[in-house]
Amino acid sequence: MGQKSRNKITSKTNKTATSTYNFQHEVIIVGAGLAGLFTALKLAPLPTTIIAAKSLGKGTSSHWAQGGIAAAIGEGDKPETHAEDTINVGAGLVDENIAHLVTKEANDRIEDLLKFGVPFDKDLEGKLQLSKEAAHSTRRIVRVEGDRAGAAIMSALIETEKNTPSIRILEQVEVHKLAVEANSINGVYIWPSAAKGTGEGSLLKGKRVILATGGCGHLFSKTTNPNMARGEGIAMAAQIGAVISDPEFIQFHPTAIDADLDPAPLATEALRGEGAHLVNKKGERFMVDIHESAELAPRDIVARAVDRELKSGRGAYLDCVNTIGSAMKDHFPTVIQKCKEADIDPLVEPIPIAPAAHFQMGGIVTDANGRSTIDGLWACGEVASTGLHGGNRLASNSLLEAVVFGNRIAEDIHNEASRRPQETIAITLNDEQTISPKLDKKLSKSIKTLREMMFQNVGVERDEKGLTEAVRILKDLEPELQESEKTKNMCLTAKFILTGAINRLESRGSHYRTDKPEKNKSAKRTYLKLDDIENKFNNT
Ligand code: SIN
Repeated sequence: MGQKSRNKITSKTNKTATSTYNFQHEVIIVGAGLAGLFTALKLAPLPTTIIAAKSLGKGTSSHWAQGGIAAAIGEGDKPETHAEDTINVGAGLVDENIAHLVTKEANDRIEDLLKFGVPFDKDLEGKLQLSKEAAHSTRRIVRVEGDRAGAAIMSALIETEKNTPSIRILEQVEVHKLAVEANSINGVYIWPSAAKGTGEGSLLKGKRVILATGGCGHLFSKTTNPNMARGEGIAMAAQIGAVISDPEFIQFHPTAIDADLDPAPLATEALRGEGAHLVNKKGERFMVDIHESAELAPRDIVARAVDRELKSGRGAYLDCVNTIGSAMKDHFPTVIQKCKEADIDPLVEPIPIAPAAHFQMGGIVTDANGRSTIDGLWACGEVASTGLHGGNRLASNSLLEAVVFGNRIAEDIHNEASRRPQETIAITLNDEQTISPKLDKKLSKSIKTLREMMFQNVGVERDEKGLTEAVRILKDLEPELQESEKTKNMCLTAKFILTGAINRLESRGSHYRTDKPEKNKSAKRTYLKLDDIENKFNNT
């Protein structure tokens, strides 16, 4: 690890595989997706250490984002309308103040990204080009080269970060545990990535920690998320007493490319925004009878419809051939490439699709400044539950949430910076620490069972029988999953999702229970702590 780390402060101290690093930071950021990088840039010049599990830019959901960022920029569009769309799609659980605050700050954050060098698509007059996605009342998504927003944004931020001396990146390092003292954060425990949370972690002290660890799609066997998105942020925060909200709301993207690939590549919703149709084997547009907006209905409704077509044997496809046609080459190069990797030519045949876990609406409860319930711990991006998404997220609101709260968190920390002086911390890491092949194989088998169980039993549709069976399977797996900090975290976050799903005796947004298909009008957001989970789990 020592040789691979960027902005490394000291080199190896001896000829064995142990390295000592000196740190002097005000802030530690765990995670190097859009939320982590943008927040670090906004924190400059405060000394900040970012911990990245892979080499910078790799393994993050942000990098894979195809759609773009929603912002009320177009003629006649207003932040209020964007907020209304967000609230309407969120199944009655959106925090309206947060929706208004986020949509109002969207334009300024797009300006920031332009300043950081993001080459958003513009028309001949120099105006930003806007795409349409489901449940937006107008074209509102800023994009890059059609469907390359995530990769382009990340690459611009990485370039800017290289010229920002206050940011140090520790690469190929993972955090699996947080340190706390009297309900106040005291740092993070780090491991070389190759150790996968086995053996001892080293304490990297810090009085301000921002978790930007992303989502939990990898807890499900079908997901559009990279395998780093395994929900560890929720588990780490819960273990030090943080409150978790709405973990049961998992958004399944309706149009993952169904080609037996793990993770499943995405066919962006912007394709439907440009007119692509959802059809079954007979070529019938099944969404037309289900919702007045047909293919552009809210994502939860489309995901369930696709799921039902597949389960009924009628099949589900995204037809771009007779709709977008050869214009795909200019506007959707990533989708064409992903299809090619799966041996599909979307210019001549419909794309086989299936729903896949894509985004977690709930997470670590945060306030309007991204603060969790633990002093010194902020959460940003998908790992946080800001209240913006309610029970169902509006497309392309996730990158927006990351930059709006990244900016708010940075301002919050700038406002208090003088109260927590930096100290020099020396830590020693064993660069050669790796998981034993035998344990790795054993844990991989348990992870596979866990992921299949989550997709089958806590998936697009749920019921009491399936959820109870999921608890039984997880109880069987638990002793083995306790053998590494990483899998312990995966197990705990799965328990949160499962418990949330068992407790919510209704259907709303992305949480659909076939045994409780109605919405309970008085149901509210879910707030859970570690003890609630363990008690419920042990008694189910
Ligand atoms: C997509 O491009 O379909 C995904 C966008 C999002 O999840 O917001």
